[in-house]
Amino acid sequence: MTDNQTKKAATDFTRRRVVAAAAGGLATQALSSTRVSAQEGQTGTVLITGSNRGIGLRIATIYAERGWNVIATARKPEAANDLKAVQANHHNLSIERLDVTEDEQIAALVDKLKGQPIDVLLNNAAILGEPNQQNFGNYNFETFHKILDVNVAGPLKVAQAFIDNVEQSEQKKIVAITSGQGSITTSRGSSIVFYNLSKSALNMAMHSLAMDLRQRGIIVALISPGAVDTDMMALALERAGANIPLLTPEQSALMVIDMIDKHDLNMAGKFMAHDGKEYNW
Ligand SMILES: NC(=O)c1ccc[n+]([C@@H]2O[C@H](COP(=O)([O-])OP(=O)(O)OC[C@H]3O[C@@H](n4cnc5c(N)ncnc54)[C@H](OP(=O)(O)O)[C@@H]3O)[C@@H](O)[C@H]2O)c1
Repeated sequence: MTDNQTKKAATDFTRRRVVAAAAGGLATQALSSTRVSAQEGQTGTVLITGSNRGIGLRIATIYAERGWNVIATARKPEAANDLKAVQANHHNLSIERLDVTEDEQIAALVDKLKGQPIDVLLNNAAILGEPNQQNFGNYNFETFHKILDVNVAGPLKVAQAFIDNVEQSEQKKIVAITSGQGSITTSRGSSIVFYNLSKSALNMAMHSLAMDLRQRGIIVALISPGAVDTDMMALALERAGANIPLLTPEQSALMVIDMIDKHDLNMAGKFMAHDGKEYNW
């Protein structure tokens, strides 16, 4: 094994341990979320960005299992093997190409889905960016612009493009997956600052949109998924040399969906965590 392989194996092992530890305490909460949603039995159409891996994949899978019409989008549908595996057993899930930074792809999907109501428009796609390029003294502004393009402009473009589909639906929800890292009140330092400020900006964007769209009966939600064991979190922890208890993508997805189910106009525009707590901005 090379040094790097050894380091990665150690990191993977520690991640698995902290996930297992977190899982014990959170399993009951996740199961109770399953029951609540199952009782409500509400279905509809959901469009999810970045649904080929991580939290987005789990959210797409759970909605498909619950009988929703799932429009699962991915930058590279041809390589979305996990999504294809879900689709093999769930014909209510379709896979569409969507890079949220590509205007032509957004326009093509809008065209294809014209007249199709979308109950939940779920802006999940995001990038962390290389953490080492977000350190003072080593700022890389190409990375800065790329992060803002995907994490802030992306959800705004998607919301604007599919607004007619959302307005035509029963549930009328636009959801953005944010992060506790976007809270200025609780921020403790400047690591991954570009990513953090992209989530603060996303919060402001969606909070403003929530106020603007309220009169049209559209609910705009901001939901943080918790600290979750995904590729994104692995990169953040590896670069920080840190370990924290993590949720599995399944646990997080169940709680995020539960929060989406619960959202009404009274909750619109608030900065909510997966477990129902409200964040300070
Ligand atoms: N994991 C956590 O602990 C955590 C904590 C707080 C918030 N979040 C948020 O939760 C959401 C999901 O994160 P995750 O942890 O599941 O991340 P992930 O595993 O890195 O997955 C990110 C997804 O976004 C997609 N994506 C990236 N750029 C895109 C673009 N330009 N257009 C469309 N899709 C794009 C990726 O597609 P490709 O496979 O093609 O790259 C992938 O499907 C993000 O909004 C993230 O900020 C995560």
